[in-house]
Amino acid sequence: MSMSPPHSPRTSCSSSTIFILSVAIFLSSAKSSDAANATRRVGHRQMSYEYYSKSCPQVEQLVGSVTGQQFRDSPISGPATIRLFFHDCFVEGCDASILIDTKLGSKELAEKDALDNKDLRPEGFETIDKAKSLVESKCPGVVSCADILAIAARDFIHLAGGPYYQVKKGRWDGRISTASNVSANIPKPDSTIDHLITLFETKGLTIEDMVTLSGAHTIGFAHCEHFLGRLYNYSGTGRPDPYVDPRLLKSLRMSCPEHGGNLDVISPVDVTTPFLFDNAYYGNLAVRLGLLASDEALFIDLRTRPIALELGNDMGKFFQMFGAAMEKMGSIGVKRGRKHGEKRKVCRVPGGV
Ligand code: HEM
Ligand SMILES: *[C@@H]1O[C@H](CO)[C@@H](O)[C@H](O)[C@H]1NC(C)=O
Ligand SMILES: *[C@@H]1O[C@H](CO)[C@@H](O)[C@H](O)[C@H]1NC(C)=O
Ligand SMILES: *[C@@H]1O[C@H](CO)[C@@H](O)[C@H](O)[C@H]1NC(C)=O
Repeated sequence: MSMSPPHSPRTSCSSSTIFILSVAIFLSSAKSSDAANATRRVGHRQMSYEYYSKSCPQVEQLVGSVTGQQFRDSPISGPATIRLFFHDCFVEGCDASILIDTKLGSKELAEKDALDNKDLRPEGFETIDKAKSLVESKCPGVVSCADILAIAARDFIHLAGGPYYQVKKGRWDGRISTASNVSANIPKPDSTIDHLITLFETKGLTIEDMVTLSGAHTIGFAHCEHFLGRLYNYSGTGRPDPYVDPRLLKSLRMSCPEHGGNLDVISPVDVTTPFLFDNAYYGNLAVRLGLLASDEALFIDLRTRPIALELGNDMGKFFQMFGAAMEKMGSIGVKRGRKHGEKRKVCRVPGGV
């Protein structure tokens, strides 16, 4: 089923349809066949692989031309965009709220200006801006920024050598973006496994999903501040983390001094193949070559270790599970329809359509 154009009356009256429909399902299972038919009638609200097949059939090709170009010109756009998508989905759902700029003169900062988002690279935002303006030039007012972000993240995973999976579309863009909501929803490099499991669970993701999605750390970089404690004073012991290989420790200490180091220095999260989307990340954990404490912890904790071992031993399995987990992550808190969302013209500025 295709999506109706943004000005169609069908779109504006159907938020009530959805509401009634959910009540119907709730109240009576005997009505479930009617409900199934009704679901099909308002199918433009459901996420699907064919969401834009009528309204913008070339959307993936358009986004793909931008991601391909970005990958050639500035490959760091890959990890930047993948992390951007993760940080979008975990705060207010996958609704492109992370892309919204803080309003000039506003006291309330937008998500992107929260402390936990300060390391999101500009290349991710730039990629989405470029893709959005190309898509707008061909299909004005139809494709959400949130869908473009989901497609771009998939493209970069594939361009870096990872799996190609189909992306469900149909996300609407949110209008709420508040910095104060970010911290509680974004995991920290020193989060315990207990905390990570709980946090991912609140997003509908399992332990398996969490370990699998952490495999995104097979590409990209981290700043010293995120692993400095491991190098010099691990959990206040005055000593380095014993789960850092001594050679890695030595080299990381050279680039990241305990005090007064350059704040811009970055180190590959997958120390063996930082630009290749493969399963080497998991193999590294087994030999104490994980960069972040939250990475290495996946191998130390007995709940997560068997999963990390399996993914490290079987690239095919990792690729298959990663695609599935990205689809789940990409469905967190998705907004559908005009009541909660919009299709922004410029991803940085809400209040569009
Ligand atoms: C499990 C909990 C996670 C923690 C604690 C965590 C933490 C971090 C930290 C601290 C960095 C370094 C940022 C910097 O210093 O610039 C980073 C980088 C990155 N993370 Fe995560 N992350 C987690 C899960 C994920 C997930 C689920 C994804 C995507 C599916 C992801 C994708 C990335 C990517 C691609 C980078 C590299 C970014 C770049 O080079 O620009 N991470 N992560
Ligand atoms: C859906 O509706 C069509 C007619 O509109 C009917 O033929 C069909 O049996 C219905 N399907 C279900 C599952 O109720
Ligand atoms: C985000 O913050 C607003 C108020 O600033 C609150 O109403 C909303 O529930 C928060 N959302 C989440 C997911 O924490
Ligand atoms: C290590 O950290 C602890 C607690 O944060 C602190 O009390 C201690 O002085 C630190 N030790 C060194 C050698 O910096």
